[in-house]
Amino acid sequence: MLHIFLEQRVRAAVAQVLPEAATATILVRPCADARFGDYQTNSLMSLAKERKLNPRQLATGVVAQLDVNEWCEQVEIAGAGFLNFRVKSEAVATVMRGALRGDHGFFRKVSAPRTVVVDFSSPNVAKPMHVGHIRSTILGDCLARVFRLLGHRVVTDNHVGDWGTQFGKLLVGWKQQLNPAALQSDPIGEMERLYKVIHAACDADPAVLEQARQELVKLQNGDAENLAIWREMIGRSQTQFDTIYRRLGVAFDHTLGESFYNPRLKAVVQELSALGLARESEGAMAVFFDDNPELKAHPAIVQKSDGAANYATTDLATLVYRLETWRPDEIVYVTDGRQQLHFKQIFAVFRRWHPEARAKLVHVWFGAILGEDGKPFKTRSGEIVKLADLLDEAEDRAFKVVTEKNPEWPEAQCREIARVVGIGAIKYADLLPNRQSDYGFNWDKMLALTGNTAPYLLYAYTRVRSIFRKRGENEAAFDAEQAARTPFPLTAPEELTLAKHLLNFGFVLEAVVEEHRPNYLCNYLYDLAGHYARFYEACPVLKAEGATRTARLALCELTGRVLKQGLEALGLETTEQM
Ligand code: ARG
Repeated sequence: MLHIFLEQRVRAAVAQVLPEAATATILVRPCADARFGDYQTNSLMSLAKERKLNPRQLATGVVAQLDVNEWCEQVEIAGAGFLNFRVKSEAVATVMRGALRGDHGFFRKVSAPRTVVVDFSSPNVAKPMHVGHIRSTILGDCLARVFRLLGHRVVTDNHVGDWGTQFGKLLVGWKQQLNPAALQSDPIGEMERLYKVIHAACDADPAVLEQARQELVKLQNGDAENLAIWREMIGRSQTQFDTIYRRLGVAFDHTLGESFYNPRLKAVVQELSALGLARESEGAMAVFFDDNPELKAHPAIVQKSDGAANYATTDLATLVYRLETWRPDEIVYVTDGRQQLHFKQIFAVFRRWHPEARAKLVHVWFGAILGEDGKPFKTRSGEIVKLADLLDEAEDRAFKVVTEKNPEWPEAQCREIARVVGIGAIKYADLLPNRQSDYGFNWDKMLALTGNTAPYLLYAYTRVRSIFRKRGENEAAFDAEQAARTPFPLTAPEELTLAKHLLNFGFVLEAVVEEHRPNYLCNYLYDLAGHYARFYEACPVLKAEGATRTARLALCELTGRVLKQGLEALGLETTEQM
């Protein structure tokens, strides 16, 4: 929180010294290394450079105008013109008191909320969700949560793949080989089987391929029977997706599948042609990017030579629909890295098509999930791993961890905790790595009680909470309001380090949405748990007395709040005991 106050003051001081400067670019960040101070800005150096000023001289001039006495010790000018700020412990205590009173949770809601559309999960009908979709689901849900927490208006939209040439084969399979019992028990499994059987038959026999083509054309032309089957495929798939979403605690504001945009596709191609953006090429219609070195060799095809629209056409129609419907300031697409070229093309076409549009378009892509052998994650028999099986296994393994720790607890209680820990472990393992690197799926690592894992953080939270259970029987419940009125001595270095770390919660939340990187929040919470452990080691809480005891209990309370809120922002449930 303090970085915002400091930033405002530095901007004001710069405005005094350089009245023409655009101060919005001036940033104050937490110091990576506490030896240099708590906060730092390096923005003066670029301001000086742009104006050919001596940076240290500029820094001196700015510091002369800078009024941060209430929060900081003497501001230090360092190196080539950094400003280092060291926060007074009384200022830290003031922020702690504000949090205890409920004025803030170490972050501020943004003053100018933005509307952000998050397009994530987006599995395909009649196909099982796989580990790639889980990553999109977990990352997208986390980003939506953090945007919301900061006060932005969020619209989540599941862009389900419910249209395309695969339905020709699926329709042939459905009409000729459907096993109704299998459809009842595992609809997506049965549809997947049908698709594979007919796909193989098409390879072997051109007559079947022709049948599939005809079924597709009938569907596209609105044949009632085919439409009804197609709708049933969507409905049954959605029911299975919803089971997974319920287990993951993920919900969407909208599920507008690809087919929703069918009536808009012709107009996209027409407009792009009329504007001279799309032109005919070998029977297809394509947008060429002659002046874009990266995309020069990759024209975007918006209509295939058989006249059909494709994934790109649909995404362009979707983009325009979203802008018209929700007027977003930003649209975030969460998919795996293999779609990078696709989104570059979509964004490039769109910028030329609607040069007036201001919305920020971001492809938040992620790497692959690898098995323990370093190859793409598969089951032993080489099949893709199904999400439902993965979640079951996570809960089973977590159950072992929980029962080993607490053999005397009733099974139902262990099962419930194992659900929270198992699902949490899967999510956390997905969120923790830099999203653009591939990561190795490793059960033992993600379920370990030590290290940067969900079980460790969930356990840390239960330890914080246990202090409040351990307090004397006759003691009244901890009264945060009252604690806010008592003096707040932060004398031990471990207390101060912990408290200062709490101050940076908001900074980290902002960084998460700014760069679309949930791993920042994972690492922040891991560090928080570490600072808490060192504090707890060094500073007796329940054995302390008077104001020290109250302040330490207050630190526990606030750490617990931030841990819980942070874990929930990642999409993890918490548990009071583990
Ligand atoms: N259904 C697609 C897939 O499974 C992902 C869709 C992502 N969103 C989008 N607007 N293209 O690969």
